[in-house]
Amino acid sequence: MAIPVEPEGRGYDKLYEEFDSPLWQQLRREAYGEDIGQHSWVTADELQEDISLLKLARASHFLDLGCGPGGPLTFVVGHVGCQGSGIDVSAKAIAAGRARAASLGLDGLVKLREADLNQPIPFASGSFDVVMSLDVILHLRDRLSVFREVARVLIPAGKFLFTDAGVITGAISDEEIRLRAVHGNTQFVPLGFNENMLGLAGFQVIDRKDRTVSLLKAATGRLSARLGHREELEQLEGSSYFERQQRYLETVIDLSQRGAVSRLMYLAESRGE
Ligand SMILES: C[S@@+](CC[C@H](N)C(=O)[O-])C[C@H]1O[C@@H](n2cnc3c(N)ncnc32)[C@H](O)[C@@H]1O
Repeated sequence: MAIPVEPEGRGYDKLYEEFDSPLWQQLRREAYGEDIGQHSWVTADELQEDISLLKLARASHFLDLGCGPGGPLTFVVGHVGCQGSGIDVSAKAIAAGRARAASLGLDGLVKLREADLNQPIPFASGSFDVVMSLDVILHLRDRLSVFREVARVLIPAGKFLFTDAGVITGAISDEEIRLRAVHGNTQFVPLGFNENMLGLAGFQVIDRKDRTVSLLKAATGRLSARLGHREELEQLEGSSYFERQQRYLETVIDLSQRGAVSRLMYLAESRGE
């Protein structure tokens, strides 16, 4: 069966149109427990843990790659008080992120811009102490080039933390790959691949944690929250889009429960080469 996917880099636009409506806020509360404006698998507790790992301080310059509507970015800036920049290919995400930063009184600290991560990162070398990217890397075409760009915009010994929800740790069928890739270009990589690419790009890997449990929790929460609001969502999204999203979430859940695809967090330090 042919499963339609969204055009390059625009797979999230439809979701971001309604991102801050009362219905979507309610869906996120039901799905994640705490709504921080995320559209990934990250939870508030997990992000709090990452802030400690990154040793962020008020003086830090922080960049979020593929920031979406700015939920995790504003969470970090709100907790730390640092300067935060975010880029995303979706204009709708950037507009929603600017509105979020303003509503939280963080517009003096948060700068957002539209940019495609398949192109060079639009910042000068050595601009940031820390770069984060949550559940975005799997959508990019050439991660070695992206990692090299991250190394360039970081200061020497700067930190890079990212999550990859597409690490293959078991058997996956072609049908499951198509269902999982509903948001557009999606790359699955074997265990060890990210470490090799980070090494080639001038990073030393400091830590790797399995974050599949939080993905499972968020995906199960999203699936049942969406089912509970089926009528409203079908009116908004149309029934075929609704069904596609449900099948996507069911596939994500099944793949993680079987241990076929894992979500891993990588923390690396730039060697400053
Ligand atoms: C799963 S969402 C994560 C959003 C955000 N990091 C969060 O945690 O809420 C993936 C994001 O990657 C962005 N994205 C996908 N391809 C991109 C590209 N080529 N350049 C920049 N952003 C991209 C999407 O627009 C989307 O906002």
